[in-house]
Amino acid sequence: MIRLFSESCRSESCRSESATHSESLHSESATHSESLHSESATHSEILTAESSHSKGLTAKLSLQSSHSEALTPRGLFITFEGIEGSGKSTQVQLLVNALKIKGLPYLTTREPGGTIISEAIRSILLNPEYAEMSPETELLLYCASRAQHTSELIIPALESGINVICDRYFDSTYAYQGAARDLDENLIDTLTKFATSGHIPDITFLIDLSVEKGLARIKHRTLDRLEKEAVEFHQRVRQQFLSIANKCPSRYVVLDGDKTPEEIHQRIVSALQPLIGEGND
Ligand SMILES: Nc1ncnc2c1ncn2[C@@H]1O[C@H](COP(=O)(O)OP(=O)(O)OP(=O)(O)O)[C@@H](O)[C@H]1O
Ligand SMILES: [Mg+2]
Repeated sequence: MIRLFSESCRSESCRSESATHSESLHSESATHSESLHSESATHSEILTAESSHSKGLTAKLSLQSSHSEALTPRGLFITFEGIEGSGKSTQVQLLVNALKIKGLPYLTTREPGGTIISEAIRSILLNPEYAEMSPETELLLYCASRAQHTSELIIPALESGINVICDRYFDSTYAYQGAARDLDENLIDTLTKFATSGHIPDITFLIDLSVEKGLARIKHRTLDRLEKEAVEFHQRVRQQFLSIANKCPSRYVVLDGDKTPEEIHQRIVSALQPLIGEGND
C-alpha cells in the first residue's frame, strides 16, 4: 500500500493554482539563460544551480522577471518516470522545446542530482564500482539527494512561477528501493515526506515500455550501478510504476513507450494543455 499517493495523489491547491497559471505569466524565454538568477521580487537571491551541472545536463532555466509576489502563480511541477531507456530524457527535451516556443518559463532537472550536493550524491549512487552498497544506504542517499534538491532548487523555482520538469522523482524510490530492493514502504513514505516537505508533483508522465526493449535501447552505453541489475529487478520496477499509476490516476499519465517520440510528445502536450495554458505563441 502506497499511502503517500493514495492520500494525496495530487493536491487540490496545486490544481487550482495551475488552472490560473497561464494568465499572468510574462515569460522572457528569449533570455533563456544557463545561469539561475531571478529578478522576481519574491526571489532575489542568486541561485547557483548552474555550477551544479556536473555534466551540463541538469538545470536550465528560462525566467520571467519583475512580477510582484501577489502576481506570481506557482509553477507546475512535472515529473517523468519509467524504466531505463524508456525515453524519459527524449521526452523532457521535446517538452522543453515546446515550452520554449510557447515562451513559458521552465527549469529542467533530474534525480538523483540537480544541485552541487545532490550531483555529488548521484556520483556515489550510480558508480558501478560500489557494488557492495547496501539497500539501506542506497535508500538514504536517494532521500538525502532529494531533500537538498527539493529545498534548494525545486521549491524556490516553483514559488517563483517557474515550471519544473524533473527527470525522475520520488516514485522512482518506491519502484527501485521499494519494489525492486524490497524495502519497507512505510519507511519510504516517512522518508519521502521528510525529504520533500510533502511536495508532490502536479503531473507525472510514466513512459511504459517492456524491460527488454528499454535495456536494448541503452545497451551501447556504459551502464551505471542500477542499470546493471538483472532483468527481474527491472521487471519489478516496471510493475511498481504501473501499480502507482493505477492508484494515482489524477496525477499520472501513462504513455506507451513503443510509440514514436513525436506521438508520445503529442500526448504529453495534450495532457498539459489545460494545466499550463497556451503561452505566447
Ligand atoms: N519512442 C521511442 N522510440 C524509439 N526509440 C526511442 C524512443 N524514445 C527514445 N528512444 C531512444 O531510446 C534511447 C533511450 O532514450 P532516453 O535516453 O530518452 O531514455 P531514458 O528513459 O532517459 O533512459 P535512462 O533511464 O537511461 O536515462 C535513446 O537512444 C533514444 O533516442
Ligand atoms: Mg535519461
